[in-house]
Amino acid sequence: RYEEIWLMLSGAMLVIFMVITGYQTFALGMGPPSNKETIDPEKVDETAPFDKPGVYQTGDHEYEVVMTLEVFNFNPGKIEIPAGSTVTFIMTSKDVVHGFQVVDTNLNAMVMPGHIQRATQKFSKPGEYLVLCNEYCGTGHQHMSTVITVK
Ligand code: CUA
Repeated sequence: RYEEIWLMLSGAMLVIFMVITGYQTFALGMGPPSNKETIDPEKVDETAPFDKPGVYQTGDHEYEVVMTLEVFNFNPGKIEIPAGSTVTFIMTSKDVVHGFQVVDTNLNAMVMPGHIQRATQKFSKPGEYLVLCNEYCGTGHQHMSTVITVK
């Protein structure tokens, strides 16, 4: 009977939709790979490596920048690296969602409280690279910026 077939078909569809939604929720819950590392946003200052924000040389022309973001500052505020360096930024937020966008590069990352964000960029050309927060984070959002000096 046609009605029975339709009933079965719509029932099957419902199950399929539920499975898809469930899978999406699960997959999204996992987050993008770069955001998998978590951290207690209340204890950033006591948690390595964020207890010592700064610029660290890790190899020949390789640097790591350990950075905390909070309204409305990037810490460290001053970043200086030699031209030709590959820099890995390791970041977390101490309060709300901030953005980390480096003008004139492809670097553009979301930095969320509770998550550790990593982004790597090679700086070949000397210059002053403006760093902007591109996620609205409060009344001082438009003043949240810093500079990466490449010498
Ligand atoms: Cu931080 Cu906008």
